[in-house]
Amino acid sequence: MACKISMWLPFATTAIMVNASPTPCCKPKQWEGLVTLGMANYVHKNDDVSLTRGTINTTYDYLNMREAQVQDFHVSPPFPYYTVKMTVIKDYKKGMQWEIIESNKTCTTRKLNSSMSPPCIPANAQFQGTYLLSQTLEVDRWYVDAPAASQATVYEVESKTCWPVSETRRSTVPDMFRLTSLTFENVTAGIKNPGIFNLPSYCPPGK
Ligand SMILES: *[C@@H]1O[C@H](CO)[C@@H](O)[C@H](O)[C@H]1NC(C)=O
Ligand SMILES: *[C@@H]1O[C@H](CO)[C@@H](O)[C@H](O)[C@H]1NC(C)=O
Ligand SMILES: *[C@@H]1O[C@H](CO)[C@@H](O)[C@H](O)[C@H]1NC(C)=O
Ligand SMILES: *[C@@H]1O[C@H](CO)[C@@H](O)[C@H](O)[C@H]1NC(C)=O
Repeated sequence: MACKISMWLPFATTAIMVNASPTPCCKPKQWEGLVTLGMANYVHKNDDVSLTRGTINTTYDYLNMREAQVQDFHVSPPFPYYTVKMTVIKDYKKGMQWEIIESNKTCTTRKLNSSMSPPCIPANAQFQGTYLLSQTLEVDRWYVDAPAASQATVYEVESKTCWPVSETRRSTVPDMFRLTSLTFENVTAGIKNPGIFNLPSYCPPGK
């Protein structure tokens, strides 16, 4: 436990007093982009960590309450090394998600257990200051502690536009402690290819 807390302290203690802190901002309600993922899962009962790295081509559509993710994940031990390539379509109006594996035409449906994450930094976020990434990109850093959801997140967004830059999250899920890092690349407003949401014929349509 001690190591988890100290790992997180640099984020938690950097709150900076400023005269006029900005209000939490919103990115567009529709966007596309490449999200790169790094994730560490610490499994208590095995006392072991598995690492996942990957990319997620994301189509985020808050206007229609849906999201599509083309995932390419590489998972490292303690489980045998494996890769996951699938398209996940989430329809929050229907409360359903489809996991589509094209290579063998498999489609798994699941009930969604959470609501769609809104395009805005949560209203209760604490502003932690403005920084330069590399030498030129000005970013605002926000910290959101959500003990009810057993997670805390640091958001970095481009100061002028609110475009997402990165998200770093620690969370506890049953049996696991998780650290997730997301980096947002080539993000553009709007949706060029709404066809990404069409389900293939081998998927049950849901209610
Ligand atoms: C994501 O999109 C880019 C650009 O269209 C493409 O090169 C890449 O292969 C895609 N990745 C996945 C996992 O589909
Ligand atoms: C389809 O492929 C995935 C990933 O390789 C595998 O996990 C799954 O068991 C396969 N499903 C069927 C029905 O073969
Ligand atoms: C939601 O919870 C149920 C019951 O635990 C589970 O079977 C399902 O896979 C979960 N859905 C998602 C999207 O994780
Ligand atoms: C991301 O944007 C850069 C710069 O515009 C471009 O060169 C690159 O091809 C893009 N990558 C993808 C995967 O779209």
